[in-house]
Amino acid sequence: MMRYARCVIQDLLSLIPVQSIQEAALKTRLHKVSYCKTDNMKNPFKYGSVISGDSFCNRKNELSDLVGAMKNGQNMFLYSERRIGKTSLILRALQGLPGKQYLSAYVDLLPTDGELSFTTATAKAIVQSISTTADKMLDVAKAFFRQLAPSVTVDDEGRPVVTFGIRRESGQEASLEEALAAPAKIAAKRKHNAVIVFDEFQQILEYGSDFVERYLRSIIQTHENVSYIFLGSRKHLIKRMFLDKSHPLYRAAGHYPLGPIKEKHWLPFIRKRFQDAGKGITDKQIRSVCVLTEGHPFYTQHLCHVLWELCEEPNEVTADLIEAAVQTLLDRESTAYILLWESFSMNQRRFLKGLANKPGRIRPFEADFIQSYGLGSPSNVQRVVQSLLERDVIDYDNGSPIIADRFFRIWLHKLGVG
Ligand SMILES: Nc1ncnc2c1ncn2[C@@H]1O[C@H](COP(=O)(O)OP(=O)(O)O)[C@@H](O)[C@H]1O
Ligand SMILES: [Mg+2]
Repeated sequence: MMRYARCVIQDLLSLIPVQSIQEAALKTRLHKVSYCKTDNMKNPFKYGSVISGDSFCNRKNELSDLVGAMKNGQNMFLYSERRIGKTSLILRALQGLPGKQYLSAYVDLLPTDGELSFTTATAKAIVQSISTTADKMLDVAKAFFRQLAPSVTVDDEGRPVVTFGIRRESGQEASLEEALAAPAKIAAKRKHNAVIVFDEFQQILEYGSDFVERYLRSIIQTHENVSYIFLGSRKHLIKRMFLDKSHPLYRAAGHYPLGPIKEKHWLPFIRKRFQDAGKGITDKQIRSVCVLTEGHPFYTQHLCHVLWELCEEPNEVTADLIEAAVQTLLDRESTAYILLWESFSMNQRRFLKGLANKPGRIRPFEADFIQSYGLGSPSNVQRVVQSLLERDVIDYDNGSPIIADRFFRIWLHKLGVG
């Protein structure tokens, strides 16, 4: 590992002053802090999975927009960077619908790899959203998804689950049509409206044919009692689906970009969680956390989680403690970040160096930026931007490229790359 790390560091030398690396390494040692849990209270900052209830910060406007769109039977693309809170938000919005008047199904497309798994995932979500007992599940499945050869089994915890016997590649189109016709039929039969959410919708671009996209196009305009919501984490792909004329879903639905949570909403949320544990944090410190994470929910929760652990009751968060929390996170990620950095070409590194160096809006195609970072020409920048977008290393925010992983940006900056 040491030899490997040395290789990488040598690689970095063309970009970084040696002194900066030594200083960064020294800081890393100084800030290695061990965790000290002073009480049995659970850490109130949650990161990683879908969050609900008390862990959910604000998003009031977004919730009201989305619930309104669902109630009006509108179709919508909801997209953002990864881990900004789409899934948590949409599940909360579904909870906000009057349950007795709505059929709502949430379909996670991440594990799907083709039309057949798309169809079974959709059918399963619909069946399970309207029935909880084994008998009822089987009735619904047989009534609306006959072509999928449904049966109901019981899982390890004794809960009924619907499974489908269909294995044939042939007949896939008919079963897909049957599955996608079901929400409108069920809604009409029950005199309900329906909301169908497809999460990680860009996954359908991996299927090898555009049949799902084409078929959705043909039905979503006609199903007036169904609202289709398409969630996407890979912004450049999802945007292509509704902005590019060659895609069947071009302009077929409204679009709703989801951004970070504003500082004014984080302030009471973070303050309260420290106060409840007998720990102090000033607004100034919360603001500096938000500057570091750019208000991105996952990174803000993650940094606050570590900060909360490091701050012992009845102490107050200080600037040094925030620095220590950041360093703890960077230490954990450093192996992955070194590997990532090593995988970039020289031009990619120069470009990322520019992004890490400059806070705020960056105009990467302007002569000033190209010259400052030795990128040669706008076409070089174009190639770099495209390749880093494809790998989800960067994203576009208000027309400016940003490094998607906020901690990676800080790591680059601290290493002296920036
Ligand atoms: N409204 C919110 N309030 C506080 N934290 C949030 C909120 N939404 C998301 N998060 C944080 O972001 C993480 C990722 O949320 P998730 O809904 O899975 O994002 P996405 O679906 O966009 O990838 C959560 O684990 C949580 O730490
Ligand atoms: Mg998600």
